Amino acid sequence: MAQVSGAKVPTAVDEVPPGTVCSGCGQEGKIECPICAKLKAPKIYYCSQECFKQNFNNHASVHQLYMKVSKFVPPPFNYTGTLRPHYVSPRRKVPDHIPKPDYAEHGDPISERISSRGYTTPIYTQQEIEGIRLACQKSREVLDMAANMIKPGVLPEDIDAAVHNMCIEMGAYPSPLNYKGFPKSCCISVNEVICHGIPDFRPLQNGDIVNIDISVHYKGYHGDVNETFVVGEVDEVGKQLIKTTYFALEEAIKIVRPGTLFRDFGEVISSYCQRNGKFSVVRSYCGHGIGELFHCAPNIPHYAKNKAVGACRPGMIFTIEPMVNEGTYQDVTWPDDWTAATADGKRSAQFEHTILVTKDGCEVLTARTSKSKKQWWEEEAETAAGATTEATEAKE
Ligand code: MF3
Ligand code: CO
Repeated sequence: MAQVSGAKVPTAVDEVPPGTVCSGCGQEGKIECPICAKLKAPKIYYCSQECFKQNFNNHASVHQLYMKVSKFVPPPFNYTGTLRPHYVSPRRKVPDHIPKPDYAEHGDPISERISSRGYTTPIYTQQEIEGIRLACQKSREVLDMAANMIKPGVLPEDIDAAVHNMCIEMGAYPSPLNYKGFPKSCCISVNEVICHGIPDFRPLQNGDIVNIDISVHYKGYHGDVNETFVVGEVDEVGKQLIKTTYFALEEAIKIVRPGTLFRDFGEVISSYCQRNGKFSVVRSYCGHGIGELFHCAPNIPHYAKNKAVGACRPGMIFTIEPMVNEGTYQDVTWPDDWTAATADGKRSAQFEHTILVTKDGCEVLTARTSKSKKQWWEEEAETAAGATTEATEAKE
């Protein structure tokens, strides 16, 4: 069905949304491209058969792409839930003028492998801290943009493209891209995917929960932040899972100060998740030091009774990023060698911040701003507060 020219002509469709424009000439769109419709590609409209024919060759690349999308077959695997991998587009390019981490070309984070910072937690200088703070602020801006794209029908592929382009526009390199061969510019993890989901062509669906994990490399330093959101209407357990994970991270942040043992974060997180939904905490993936390197010491487990050695000191910078599951804590890895899914196919949520230890507490370097996308419980609180204000004003 690839090279249909003239054989299949578009026909008038019943429901053309109001304001539809012809993708050829910009006039009123009246007919739909039948090939796009058949391939379930985004709808494209034309004003007339003439415009359709004239633009067919330009437009054919979309058909070729969606041919691949529709033909993609997930590799055989004992998938634990209902989610399956979908088509992943080729690796995006980063222009030469963007400063890149060492692995950008070949995928091997050599500096990370050979550095003593793999086992000795760095204490950063004031100048380094300023650089990492900036990278964290950039990561936050990108996450906020990406989070605002979330709605049913949107492709993780589209979010990844927007993340990639925004990074380049701000002069940053999207840290995940080619890190140990990771194929995309951010991680997008849906439902039973715990982390490291590869942005693909599966449209987000009403009822999904989705995590977007953003890391950027800016002027020599990395920042790392992630959040989980609902897509449309999500059931109560799913919402409880997200909210519990969010506040488990908040609980852990409350105890970050000089002297706190790395192993203590896991106690706080685990007990909070147990008390607020009997949820379990993932053990295979941990928080990490970050800065000039994407990943370095310390290792921060999120589960109870872990054996992490060491304590917080002023000038340390690390992530806390608990992954919390509805069912078992155990994970399996998909054949793509990246996607970590729950062993029982039940859902998983995650939140992450990059945190600086200060002399009397901490600074959340990836903190949300007034522009950050709100969670439903915050919107509900605002609506309630608004209603109260109105009621009070009405009384006066
Ligand atoms: N951002 C992830 C973290 O929190 C790391 C992703 S590595 C990648 O550590 F290669 F998958 F991107
Ligand atoms: Co991280």
